Amino acid sequence: MEATRGDSTELQTDRPHPARVYDYWLGGKDNFAADREQGDRMLKINPFISDSVRANRAFLRRVVGRLVQETGIRQFLDIGSGLPTQDNVHLVAQRIAPETRVVYVDNDPIVLAHGRALLQGASQGRTEVVQGDLRDPDGILGDPQVRGALDFDRPMAVLINAVLHFVGDDEDPAGIVARYRDAVVPGSHMLIAHASWDLHPPESVEAAKREMQNVPFTTRFRSHEEILALFEGLELLDPGLVQICGWHPDGPIPVEHRTTNLFGGLGRVP
Ligand SMILES: C[S@@+](CC[C@H](N)C(=O)[O-])C[C@H]1O[C@@H](n2cnc3c(N)ncnc32)[C@H](O)[C@@H]1O
Repeated sequence: MEATRGDSTELQTDRPHPARVYDYWLGGKDNFAADREQGDRMLKINPFISDSVRANRAFLRRVVGRLVQETGIRQFLDIGSGLPTQDNVHLVAQRIAPETRVVYVDNDPIVLAHGRALLQGASQGRTEVVQGDLRDPDGILGDPQVRGALDFDRPMAVLINAVLHFVGDDEDPAGIVARYRDAVVPGSHMLIAHASWDLHPPESVEAAKREMQNVPFTTRFRSHEEILALFEGLELLDPGLVQICGWHPDGPIPVEHRTTNLFGGLGRVP
């Protein structure tokens, strides 16, 4: 990408950022040399990462599609949404129900810059992009743009997809999830997907752990049991917390998607 876009000091283009490394793995163009170098180092250790992130996007599409079709949800708060990529949440949801409102939240300013371009499209007024931090529920839940776009008296879906593994134990991930859960009305849903060593190719776990100690952001992969605990206070829906490729697959699971190291599940607010 061109280094002239946005404020390079704010974007900190000289160091890798999760949104841009993820974009690189997805084959996007919104990344810088530091992101590509970090992405390549991780790919050398675990060559399946790109397939894993593609499996994650497919999982997200399936969850959003089912929520709109089967539960009547028409509002989404997607936190740690990442850079706009193919078949974003608003595209999937609004294709089925054009009136659906979607708010994307991310802490990377580059996502906000892209969001502005996104908002110039036909979905203006129904799709918002807000800069915010998952670890600051009060900030996100009290944000005027968020409150203006979403009706907190009606059910919504809160998507926390592949982002809680950037939250350390000392930052109270369960408490953070609970704040969002308690802010929405019964009948709302919460999606959590989370990276886990339990699913990582065993031969590269140690090398990946060593590499992740050097990245300039927190990474804390969790066990199935630890991720399950994040669903406390929610009714975990069928098929439970599973490797994401196995969550209501559309058909035969692509072999390469079976390499994903993410567990995911959908909970309903009782
Ligand atoms: C691995 S990507 C996942 C993107 C998308 N949710 C998906 O599943 O395809 C993680 C995203 O979370 C964002 N992120 C990381 N920490 C965050 C935080 N504390 N608050 C908000 N966003 C965060 C990153 O900038 C990145 O865009």
